[in-house]
Amino acid sequence: MSKFATALLTENVLFKNQHPGENDSRTEVLAGLHQKQKTINPKYFYDTHGSELFERITTLPEYYPTRTERALYVEHADAIAEYCGKNCVLIEPGSGSSEKVRLLLESLKPAAYVPMDIAKEFLQRSAVKLGKEFPWLNVHAVCADFGTYDEAPEGLPEGKRVIFYPGSTLGNMTPDMAKQFLTNLRPWLGHDGGMLIGIDLHKSTNTLTAAYNDRDGVTAAFNLNVLNHINRLTSSNFDVKNFSHRAFYNLALQRIEMHLESNIDHIVRLGESAIVFAKGETIHTENSYKYTQESFQKLAGEAGFRVRQSWLDDEQLFSVHYLDLQ
Ligand code: AVJ
Repeated sequence: MSKFATALLTENVLFKNQHPGENDSRTEVLAGLHQKQKTINPKYFYDTHGSELFERITTLPEYYPTRTERALYVEHADAIAEYCGKNCVLIEPGSGSSEKVRLLLESLKPAAYVPMDIAKEFLQRSAVKLGKEFPWLNVHAVCADFGTYDEAPEGLPEGKRVIFYPGSTLGNMTPDMAKQFLTNLRPWLGHDGGMLIGIDLHKSTNTLTAAYNDRDGVTAAFNLNVLNHINRLTSSNFDVKNFSHRAFYNLALQRIEMHLESNIDHIVRLGESAIVFAKGETIHTENSYKYTQESFQKLAGEAGFRVRQSWLDDEQLFSVHYLDLQ
């Protein structure tokens, strides 16, 4: 018997819970905060409130990636469907609200759609909503930390595996981690599978910086909210009022960095531990790497993938690629 429960949420929506235990999270958070440069893994942004804040970010005028990528799916849905093939099993790690896949479903007509996300309630809600809108679609939701998964989720229907990885989520990883991550996905794909992936492109520092410092402060709220999530996960006593949002483009490494900067000298309690902050010291909460067509092709190649086709908008802000195995 599987150690994880499977539930039928509605007629066409299955749900499987493989969420990591809270002890794992606690250990990971502690280790990050004890480093010289304090860090929090960006996956902790996505509690229910954080997932909602991220959805708001995607609608901000400064945040060009989402609308640009959506337009690419709308424009090229049929071409993309040719690469994916009919009746594929479409697996989306980090599916969030499953917004983008809607643009492809009618063209792709997949045998099953497998949204995977770490935010359990948000995933369940999104999967049920999607199942209602697409009654013919077989939705197989899996709550999991996909970063630690090394095999495709079990119990899926037959069919060509296609991993849908939009939103430039890969940008959260260093190039070395990204290479490892892509390499680990290869066995998910069988011999004929593929991957449809959205990658944000390197561009002017002004455009990039504005996208992570919006006027309404939604990105700041999203960044700070990670501390509230950590408080609940680890019984710590972070006070968001003691921190400020910082985001800048690190041109040498071609990545946006987000940090939370301590406004004062202070000490935060985390269970038995004390975390000491000097004024001006930061917690590094996110990297968002930007690629060129060439640098992404090179990365994919080093992970054993071949870029079969790429779609870019006219301004070359964002790219979508179909990869298969070399
Ligand atoms: C979901 C990782 C692609 O890096 O642009 C948006 C997250 N952080 N604004 C990104 C994010 C701040 C986003 N990714």
